[in-house]
Amino acid sequence: MRNAGEARVRLSLGYNSVEPMKTLTIAVIAGDGVGKEVVPQSKRVLDAVAKKHGVAFAFQDFDWGADHFFRWGRMMPAGAIDLLQPCDAILLGAVGHPEIPDHTTLNGLLLPIRRSFDQYANVRPAYLYPGVKSPLAGLKGGEIDFVVVRENTEGEYAQVGGRVYALQPEEVAIQTSVFTRRGIERIVRFAFELAARRGKKMRVTSVTKSNALGYSMDLWDRTFSEVAGKFPEIQTESLLVDAAAMNFVRRPESFDVVVGSNLFGDILSDLSAALIGSMGLAASANLDPSRRFPSMFEPVHGSAPDIAGKGIVNPLATILSAAMMLEHLEMNAAARDVERAVAAALAEGKARTPDLGGASSTEEVTDAVLARLG
Ligand SMILES: NC(=O)c1ccc[n+]([C@@H]2O[C@H](COP(=O)([O-])OP(=O)(O)OC[C@H]3O[C@@H](n4cnc5c(N)ncnc54)[C@H](O)[C@@H]3O)[C@@H](O)[C@H]2O)c1
Repeated sequence: MRNAGEARVRLSLGYNSVEPMKTLTIAVIAGDGVGKEVVPQSKRVLDAVAKKHGVAFAFQDFDWGADHFFRWGRMMPAGAIDLLQPCDAILLGAVGHPEIPDHTTLNGLLLPIRRSFDQYANVRPAYLYPGVKSPLAGLKGGEIDFVVVRENTEGEYAQVGGRVYALQPEEVAIQTSVFTRRGIERIVRFAFELAARRGKKMRVTSVTKSNALGYSMDLWDRTFSEVAGKFPEIQTESLLVDAAAMNFVRRPESFDVVVGSNLFGDILSDLSAALIGSMGLAASANLDPSRRFPSMFEPVHGSAPDIAGKGIVNPLATILSAAMMLEHLEMNAAARDVERAVAAALAEGKARTPDLGGASSTEEVTDAVLARLG
């Protein structure tokens, strides 16, 4: 990742201090469907917060996704990774089109970026904002406050397998999961460090299915115990994924940091998005914690073809993902500003898209956030 560029804003004889203004280059892939609607709203918020905090964002837009596929037969060009690499971060909307198989869109854009940039930690916070109704009865704002940490580069998504007798009646498909000690160790360690940094319930829950998957998930369980031994101040809990799903519903307030494999983390974070009131509020970060490569920030949701083009998609998941990007770029005050503005807009409850029971447009919800940014 290259260093942030600097541009002199004012030069005098030294009597006035000259503050170098940081310019951060953000690669932007709006993608498909509602991605094209939520990403421009996030850029509006980023521009506003940048002005307030004395930085500038240079957005580099890449028109990759389904349209690119229809034109060129691939989701992004051959040199795409090289184009993204010099950027400070990547902001993504969503990929997916009803006329393209989902495995083509996912494997043609999202997964190669996550793997090429070793974005092994997929961080998906679940926070019930005051003023938002959870489908679970009796929960008040703030009572759900946990983070799903999903292993993002191997496991069930490793793309190892093949077909025999393809497209014939006796067709056979084999898909193998790949779990490495290194891969498990680093994601579990990340989860413990995150629990320590959050300083909240100081608990890490490991999610597996080691009763049935006695090789891969046994390696996960043993590695989890080894890493846990290095964090005596953090409580631990191990749940099978079916029990974890049940307890997300039964006692969501008990969770702090939940760590699981690529597939389990994906499924559980959709459940947690529903618990906090809407997919439209679920943000995520794909992090390369070593910072060798740019990290990528995107909402948990997909391209939502059922509501695309209607101007009613909730932009807050993407705006909150942009706040996670600010935090990763070490602009903590700016990140808190955006989060506070989102929380204030939700608490007031006037501007709400239909997924939250309102009738506001995507743009009106962003306007409400911008009004509270000051
Ligand atoms: N990271 C990604 O790019 C990603 C993630 C998931 C799915 N997908 C793709 O997206 C496409 C659609 O998938 P899906 O329907 O299973 O999931 P989805 O997340 O796109 O939509 C699920 C449901 O939630 C609603 N929804 C989602 N985001 C919303 C928002 N911000 N505001 C209001 N309502 C919202 C949708 O209208 C839909 O009813 C598929 O092609 C799939 O492969 C992409």
